[in-house]
Amino acid sequence: MRSDHEDINVLFVCLGNICRSPTAEAVFRKYARQFGLKVKIDSAGTGGWHQGETPDPRAIEAGQEKGYSFTGQTSRKIEKNDFVLFDYILAMDHNNLKSLRSTCPAQYSDKLHLFLDFAPQLSQDEVPDPYYGGRDGFQTVIALIEAASQGLCKHLKPD
Ligand code: 4NP
Repeated sequence: MRSDHEDINVLFVCLGNICRSPTAEAVFRKYARQFGLKVKIDSAGTGGWHQGETPDPRAIEAGQEKGYSFTGQTSRKIEKNDFVLFDYILAMDHNNLKSLRSTCPAQYSDKLHLFLDFAPQLSQDEVPDPYYGGRDGFQTVIALIEAASQGLCKHLKPD
């Protein structure tokens, strides 16, 4: 059984791992620190087209404007072992979740969730893909991710 002193491992997942999940990684890292949570945080894509690339400059710009750091992040594709290593595997949209469900071994399927399930007050359950849109799409991504990050912190540290 897990003790309070053990790290919790959280993995954020989107399609390309250059826009939404790197933003979730950066935002949640700051929220977790503020909440005093001991967590390991990483992100990955269901697709591997951008492997090895740094996050999209538009995501970095929108995030840095709000004080989030993307230092050290490079895109990677989800691997089989991620389903073993991570406790929470959080998809940005229903398509990401469907991809994860198709490769996740049955014994780990309880680890899979939509990230916005941690922000039930919102009127949407997906973080929309901002890749083909404008600057405001990246700002929307941040606002949604901030709400879910707060919800996830409260879930992990209920008092
Ligand atoms: P992400 O955005 O899944 O939030 O990283 C995308 C990045 C790249 C592509 C699609 C979405 N793409 O088609 O290359």
